[in-house]
Amino acid sequence: MAEDKYFSAIERVDVEPQKVKRLEKTLEDLKVEEEVFDQYTLMTLYELSRRGYLDGLMGFVKTGKEANVARGVRGDELVAVKLYRVATSDFRRMWRYIRGDPRFHRIGRKRHQIVYAWAEKEFKNLARAYEAGVRCPEPIAHMNNVLIMEFIGDDEGNPYPLIKDYPPEDEETAEEVFWGILEDYRRMYRRAELVHGDLSEYNILYGGDGDYRIIDFSQGVLLDHPLAEELLLRDIRNVTNFFTRLGVDTPPIDELVEEIRG
Ligand SMILES: Nc1ncnc2c1ncn2[C@@H]1O[C@H](COP(=O)(O)OP(=O)(O)OP(=O)(O)O)[C@@H](O)[C@H]1O
Ligand SMILES: [Mg+2]
Repeated sequence: MAEDKYFSAIERVDVEPQKVKRLEKTLEDLKVEEEVFDQYTLMTLYELSRRGYLDGLMGFVKTGKEANVARGVRGDELVAVKLYRVATSDFRRMWRYIRGDPRFHRIGRKRHQIVYAWAEKEFKNLARAYEAGVRCPEPIAHMNNVLIMEFIGDDEGNPYPLIKDYPPEDEETAEEVFWGILEDYRRMYRRAELVHGDLSEYNILYGGDGDYRIIDFSQGVLLDHPLAEELLLRDIRNVTNFFTRLGVDTPPIDELVEEIRG
């Protein structure tokens, strides 16, 4: 299975006070508010770095209620580090998606178990999509509530903006991006047997000149999931509506969906 190519693990990490102290000191130097990390997250980062997947953190790209995304360094490359917050996650919503997913039928009902499964699901979905040729960040590693992937942005560490804030520069480029995304969706559906589940102008990064990436695969489900059809339709509707507003001449949504299903 394509997704097994990448390191992904849910492992117990023991909190070792000296290590936590040392990490907290590093974070202090970076002026990271430490309340965004609990001690288990710190130990998970420590484990990932011990295994060679991360050499350091360089501040946050985005902090949210459920997840924070940080800039990380690995060798001489930037990586994106997505950290799910265990305490403030809406694990009931997560459970609705995980419940119907045979990949996770054995997980327990504790809050942290659900959040870890959610992160694992996002990572596995991303790996499947990437291996199917979808334009998305390259997956690097997952452990517990932490995901590491390719950083999508410029060399100075600025992430590409969301396409909603920085739309393609002219109608021709917009049309090219629209059809690129639909082609990606077809690959995702046919080769990866996956539905994105949260596709819209809020989860597409755009760097200009037609260069886009699809992100945030956490709500993705496999085709046999009870929500798959509904999510497929919503995804295609969102994307089509957005590009229609940009002036792209888009075909009817049911035709596009048929084309994807094949
Ligand atoms: N691989 C990446 N490279 C660069 N920036 C990224 C990457 N992944 C995510 N980001 C940045 O972090 C933001 C949030 O990421 P994402 O959409 O995956 O999380 P989210 O759970 O939807 O968060 P929220 O719901 O708060 O937007 C993105 O809008 C983008 O700015
Ligand atoms: Mg998002």
